[in-house]
Amino acid sequence: MLTGKNILLGISGGIAAYKTPQLVRLLKKSGADVQVLATESAVRFVSELSLSTVSGRPVLTDIFSADGNGHDNARTMHITLGEWADALVIAPATANTLAKLAAGMCDDMLSLCFLTLRPGKPVLVAPAMDGHMYDSPSVQRNLAMLKAQGCRMMEPESGSLASGQCGLGRMPEPETIFEALTEMLASPEASALCGKTVIVTAGPTREKIDDVRFLSNYSSGKMGFAIAAEAARRGATVRLVTGPVSLPTPPGVERLDVESAVEMLDAAQPFFDACDLFIGAAAVADYRPETPAEGKIKKNDAEMEIRLVRNPDILATFATGRKPGQLAVGFALETAGGLDYARKKLVDKQLDLVAFNIYDGRTTGFEVDTNALTLLARDGNVTELPLLSKEEAAGKLLDAIEPLLRR
Ligand code: PMT
Repeated sequence: MLTGKNILLGISGGIAAYKTPQLVRLLKKSGADVQVLATESAVRFVSELSLSTVSGRPVLTDIFSADGNGHDNARTMHITLGEWADALVIAPATANTLAKLAAGMCDDMLSLCFLTLRPGKPVLVAPAMDGHMYDSPSVQRNLAMLKAQGCRMMEPESGSLASGQCGLGRMPEPETIFEALTEMLASPEASALCGKTVIVTAGPTREKIDDVRFLSNYSSGKMGFAIAAEAARRGATVRLVTGPVSLPTPPGVERLDVESAVEMLDAAQPFFDACDLFIGAAAVADYRPETPAEGKIKKNDAEMEIRLVRNPDILATFATGRKPGQLAVGFALETAGGLDYARKKLVDKQLDLVAFNIYDGRTTGFEVDTNALTLLARDGNVTELPLLSKEEAAGKLLDAIEPLLRR
């Protein structure tokens, strides 16, 4: 399955490191060439001899003592490896290694090769540590930063931990990591999105009241950015038109930053003709203040009224004016129930598919890292997805769109 693939396996110093020779064996058995990058702590948990024997290559640890076997030389080996690799797997990823990667530090071969890996190459990370450490704000912040950079995070599993306690924190089994990697490396040519042009809208819009105030909503852009990243990974040319968010641009995606709904339409419209698929994940304000005031509106004792006028509907503008073969996919956000509203949007906006989600303030909708989508297709088909990370939900949404693109 992985014949001809070059895999960098980064191992950091947790007890789960003892399982990594099995992961190397699985990778080798499926035809991959594996270069192990182990931290100094890792080789206290698993022997270099085991890893070099199963991988058939010397284990690389220290930047300066790399022996260059099979590569250029120690000075430039990290650069050679960054070009050579088709993917980087980091398992187990400890809190310390996650912090180094998130900060861009590079004082060992693992963190160095993370920086030299060519853009767009998949990085799969399997964190493993004590559950309390995993839940700590610092670790969660570093995980979020790496995820936003495009790294695929595996959820640690629950079970008995080295501390003797039971809980979340175990590294997934080598077989599970192997399957996740195989899925990530599945040839993009097999995807119906390969070679297609996609527009994704994301984030909130801001509608000016005056020069210092605006109307907006809680959208973080996470859902739209995850869709854009996954579509690019599947080989599409992706334009991401986004309202104000604080997320890095996913690898291989062209980003257009806007503020208001009118600006979002103006930025996206020139690309409508050439696009195969439009996905509206943005939370676009339906209304805007009719006449934003100049400067700052001064407070006085009187009540104030702001007259709002309708904004253009970006998704409906695309969907109703499109050429045959172009697909229009929208989201529908409600605070409760509301599948009927989603159905109405599918019909009114003339869409091919609607992803319905509820904002429950805890696990789904705005801001959070997870979402539960119900996909309503034009042919009446309804698919209810479980609660997933936004990255996984983006994958499932694109899986549902791909057959429509092939028609
Ligand atoms: O950004 P996150 O924090 O990750 O949150 C994700 C999300 C909740 C914003 C996302 O999953 C979502 O549901 N996006 C659409 C939210 C929304 O505004 O829904 P709506 O029901 O009001 O709009 C229906 C569809 O029309 C949407 O595809 C929307 O992008 C589009 N629309 C709406 C109004 C408008 N003027 N122009 C549009 O294009």
